[in-house]
Amino acid sequence: MRNPFRPTFGASPYHWAGRSVVLEEFARSLDGYPGEPSRSLVIDGARGIGKTVLLTELEDIAAQHGWIVLRATGRGNSVRTLIDTTIPAKIAELDPPAGRTVTAVQVSGFRVDTELLDVADPVPTLGTRMRDLLGLLRGTGVLITVDEVQDADPDNLSDIAVTHQDLIRDEHHVALAMAGLTHGINRLLDLPGTTFLRRARRFELGPLTDEDARAILLATAAESKPFDDDAADLAVDIARGYPYLVQLIGYLAWNRAGDGITRADVEAVREETIRTMGSQVHAPSLKGVPPAQMAYLRAMADIGGEEVSSSEVAERIGKKPNEATDTRGKLLDRGLIEAPAWGKVSFTLPYLGEFLRSDNRSTRIS
Ligand SMILES: Nc1ncnc2c1ncn2[C@@H]1O[C@H](COP(=O)(O)OP(=O)(O)O)[C@@H](O)[C@H]1O
Ligand SMILES: [Mg+2]
Repeated sequence: MRNPFRPTFGASPYHWAGRSVVLEEFARSLDGYPGEPSRSLVIDGARGIGKTVLLTELEDIAAQHGWIVLRATGRGNSVRTLIDTTIPAKIAELDPPAGRTVTAVQVSGFRVDTELLDVADPVPTLGTRMRDLLGLLRGTGVLITVDEVQDADPDNLSDIAVTHQDLIRDEHHVALAMAGLTHGINRLLDLPGTTFLRRARRFELGPLTDEDARAILLATAAESKPFDDDAADLAVDIARGYPYLVQLIGYLAWNRAGDGITRADVEAVREETIRTMGSQVHAPSLKGVPPAQMAYLRAMADIGGEEVSSSEVAERIGKKPNEATDTRGKLLDRGLIEAPAWGKVSFTLPYLGEFLRSDNRSTRIS
């Protein structure tokens, strides 16, 4: 028997729940007209919140509608790869539909002086390649997805965005879905040439509802080692709607369980779940955060509790409330904290406070 949970970044879950607003809206937009706003999607959120697997779902929906899906990597020269490799491969795959009439340009009645027309082939651009591909399609379109936008080269992103907009202007059926960490998405929207993406549908992924988290746990384990009600309650509680934690707690509890998953199994793996969250999510999320922002986060962690007053945080780092506003703004922009109410801040990632406190402790010891 294999463990049915998949606490692996980018790995699509065996049982899906939630995000139906995005999926339904996107599916509907594909049946619509060129330039439907929901054909341009920008998805942001924290590590492990489910951006990559959501992109995969969108790709599946597009494929089911007969659309061609092109995946652009966030890394390297993604536009070059599209032009030189990905799009030509798709073009080669597609047999031109039977009965197409534009077999060749019919030049009858006058002589064409080939000498005069012999200009060098224009260098293909993303736009010309896309038009070649779109020219082979009837009634469907092309979706481009870009993941890990925060790591992408700004010129590449601008290129993709500008081409997308041009194709829409010419009434082509194209869709673009981009996903990345919050601060990367904010930077993307500030790039020259991507202004129109500010009008794209933006979805900020938050936690799943407890109901969805429970549905995932129950359905994923049902065929092999079903959860008791009590065990599911506790697992939902620990996961706090965070998709990576849902998969992780399910995975670890499943490994430990006998024929079915009990509350004791879940309780026994709580620590390991939170510790793994620390190394897989918290530590990488804090990489590159400048000292002033780290001090702010540590102060929040030391004060403790779900919501913390921002003036109390400021005081703790030895600043007047207005002097800490800038740091607070940068952390909001990074998506590490949220402002749940006026004058309040809270951590976006579950257990980040605990992580920072234990991190503090271990630094002191060493
Ligand atoms: N809607 C969902 N239903 C079930 N599992 C999900 C869902 N969204 C994400 N997951 C799981 O959460 C984990 C993190 O998802 P991923 O897309 O890699 O996050 P991100 O790209 O935001 O870092 C994966 O194990 C994935 O299977
Ligand atoms: Mg991802």
